[in-house]
Amino acid sequence: MARARSVYRCQSCGYAAPKPMGQCPGCEAWNAMIEEVESRAPAASGAPARMMTDFSSEVVALGEVQRQPEARVSTRIGELDRLLGGGAVPGEIILLAGPPGIGKSTLMLQAAANLAGGGKVLYASGEESLKQISSRARRLGVEGKNLFLVSETNLAKIVEAASALKPLGLVLDSVQTCYHPELSSSPGSVAQVRECAAELLRLAKKSELIVFVLGHVTKDGTLAGPKVLEHIVDAVLYFDAERHDQVRALRAQKNRFGPTDEVGLFEMTERGLSEVRDASRFFVADRDESPRPGRAVSVSLEGSRPMLVEAQSLVVHTKYPLPRRMATGLDLNRVLVLLAAMEKHLGLRLEDRDAYVSLAGGVRLKDPALDLAACMAVASSWRDRALPRGLVLIGEVGLLGEVSRVPCLESRLKEAAKAGFSRALVSAKAVGDLPALGLKVSGVSDLREAAAALFDEAK
Ligand SMILES: Nc1ncnc2c1ncn2[C@@H]1O[C@H](COP(=O)(O)OP(=O)(O)OP(=O)(O)O)[C@@H](O)[C@H]1O
Ligand SMILES: [Mg+2]
Repeated sequence: MARARSVYRCQSCGYAAPKPMGQCPGCEAWNAMIEEVESRAPAASGAPARMMTDFSSEVVALGEVQRQPEARVSTRIGELDRLLGGGAVPGEIILLAGPPGIGKSTLMLQAAANLAGGGKVLYASGEESLKQISSRARRLGVEGKNLFLVSETNLAKIVEAASALKPLGLVLDSVQTCYHPELSSSPGSVAQVRECAAELLRLAKKSELIVFVLGHVTKDGTLAGPKVLEHIVDAVLYFDAERHDQVRALRAQKNRFGPTDEVGLFEMTERGLSEVRDASRFFVADRDESPRPGRAVSVSLEGSRPMLVEAQSLVVHTKYPLPRRMATGLDLNRVLVLLAAMEKHLGLRLEDRDAYVSLAGGVRLKDPALDLAACMAVASSWRDRALPRGLVLIGEVGLLGEVSRVPCLESRLKEAAKAGFSRALVSAKAVGDLPALGLKVSGVSDLREAAAALFDEAK
């Protein structure tokens, strides 16, 4: 007979308690403990409990383990392959998460169709009917020869279908809508999501199946459902963008078989998500137009890809008792620190000014190499003087106003030279090591020197 019990489970970290609690003792989240009724048929007497994975328990010396060349399966979407470390690894389970309507199902249908070029692929959707999926497939122009669809929310049936079809890949859209029939809690609850993920993990490892699991994220950007899911899967890819953003950035938050600092850029078009290869074109406003106060260009490095970005700033007299500070695309706390450094070291009076700082094109970046450009964009707007044309600024700014060197300066400068920039302002410490790169590189050691080089010269 099935045992039923009621537990209060934290929807954030999965901590279970027999009593309701206001704050989760596991992750200290408030009001996250939700009652769940769990019932599970007990294992037949003597049968072992089910494990997360069914690996062999044989002890083998590493040297004896057969060394096979690493098999990667390409999704034929360059940006996705690069994020995964050169393609998906058979047996890998990949979680693709993102806010609603960002394009998760679109990207996965494109990837599934591409994978189907090398073997069968099963696309299981609990969110859309077969007709809806096929009409999207028609719009995206994807071929359906080896791509099989199932509209199902019962995970046992999906696993059964996958076992019968023996596909190369499986897409589950989405983990929050499917349920494990052995549990009575509702779909999307921690217990359900965890059990479904564990079941998929067993399937993936046993059959060397590439599994893509789609998941929603909540408003605050965390995965809807449990954090525990992130521990179970091999890779977590996350759409770091809003639906209205022109460019949608996909980042790897965790990756057992590849890098985590790469970013994949996509643009939503009528024919689906298309890759953005020339990222610099998106993030720098028209370079041919006359210089304007408040603009400064820098080169950010996302994983192995350098891309030009434009910092913009607007500094105006405030109408509020407390001046406003806003940052879009950059971290607000970082911008506050930079503003304070400029007040102190440049003597820029900002206490009666509102300061807005943003990155053009809706991109969000955390690269400290953009500090110098952000600072000089603010100084340029404050002085109402445009920076010289064809100039990039690359450097991290510290609390003491010093401009320090940044990693991979050479590849950043090469990207700027390729895009037609003729001058660069970088940390003075980095100038000596640089080979000739086709643009004039000047070094500054602090904010004061940078402002003197830019504004005194432009007089
Ligand atoms: N005909 C079209 N032309 C251009 N873009 C379209 C078209 N139809 C849909 N889209 C885009 O596709 C997006 C929806 O994509 P998709 O359904 O793949 O998102 P999702 O992340 O799977 O959403 P959900 O979380 O609801 O499942 C819409 O936001 C829209 O921008
Ligand atoms: Mg979807």
